[in-house]
Amino acid sequence: MRVATRASALLPAEELAGLWAPSCPYLNTASFGLPPQPAFDALQTALADWRGGRTSWEGWADAVEAARASFARLVGCDPADVATGGTVSEFVGLVAAALPDGSRVVAPSVEFTSNLFPWLAQASRGIEVRTVPLAELADAVRPDTTLVAVSAVQSSSGELAGLDDVLAAAREHDALVLLDATQACGWLPLSAQRVDFLVCHGYKWLLSPRGTAYLAVRPERLADLTPLHAGWWAGEDPHDSYYGPPLRLARSARRLDTSPAWFSWVGAAPALELLERIGIERIHRHDLELANRFRTGLGLEPGNSAIVSVDFPDAAAKLERAGVRAAVRAGGLRVSFHVYNTPEDVDVALEALL
Ligand SMILES: Cc1ncc(COP(=O)(O)O)c(C=O)c1O
Repeated sequence: MRVATRASALLPAEELAGLWAPSCPYLNTASFGLPPQPAFDALQTALADWRGGRTSWEGWADAVEAARASFARLVGCDPADVATGGTVSEFVGLVAAALPDGSRVVAPSVEFTSNLFPWLAQASRGIEVRTVPLAELADAVRPDTTLVAVSAVQSSSGELAGLDDVLAAAREHDALVLLDATQACGWLPLSAQRVDFLVCHGYKWLLSPRGTAYLAVRPERLADLTPLHAGWWAGEDPHDSYYGPPLRLARSARRLDTSPAWFSWVGAAPALELLERIGIERIHRHDLELANRFRTGLGLEPGNSAIVSVDFPDAAAKLERAGVRAAVRAGGLRVSFHVYNTPEDVDVALEALL
């Protein structure tokens, strides 16, 4: 087990001691994040309780509400405007299904497909999807645009969307905006108030298990969305929603929830609580400091993303030989830096590459 010994000055080692135990320099949060100890412990307890039949499920379900409230604070909205589910694509699908026939959607060309396929899958209703390079997204918004779908941070390259321009163009042409915050929320300060729909999966930068996704809806838009997968959990009172009609859905965005994968949420709630405690502004500075240490080491200009994507000969093999975890995306090396990474991790990676 490798314990982070020398954290950056921004996140002192004493504060992080005992919270994470990566067994290698782990530079792959853009694929999945590592659980902090309280999340791991909570999961072990829940699994033991499950095996022993020692408890009822309500405590596990409480974790959904704790995570919903934390997420709402992280993106600056009311928990009543946040739905929880298992995947980003199911939430994008809900919004896609709510668009009128013949709608026009614009999105970046290399957008992650969970924010593309759900729109493309509506082609039989005459919904058209136009993809353009990220840098041209704002200019591609036209008077006939119904919705702009974009990731706050691109999965493949780490590039940040020029949100101010995209939002201004959407406002000018009365288009809706769906923002996928999966590669952003947890390190990049964001506000759900700026967009109509914000979707996010928690298993990367929010350090949660898979199966913990969120949809923050602008309250005026909630009535537009049909709760296509509503079940007992989407009822106003789940305990009074087990059997029989009538339909009695939650008034809040919880009407869009899917029944929770309990254990995933048990792991998510303590992870989000910890991220809140550390603070996203500090994590942002820490992650960028490390990403820019890496960029500078490679002779690149500093950037504004916690994800660095570079074309470097044999990069993946060299890092693998040095025991560094990273990823190859769209043909390039993708490394990502988060709260548990240290300057030493960066230096091991640079040494392996140079
Ligand atoms: C930008 C982005 N959105 C969404 C996801 C995950 O989507 P889903 O929850 O549909 O599996 C990923 C995973 O890599 C991603 O990078």
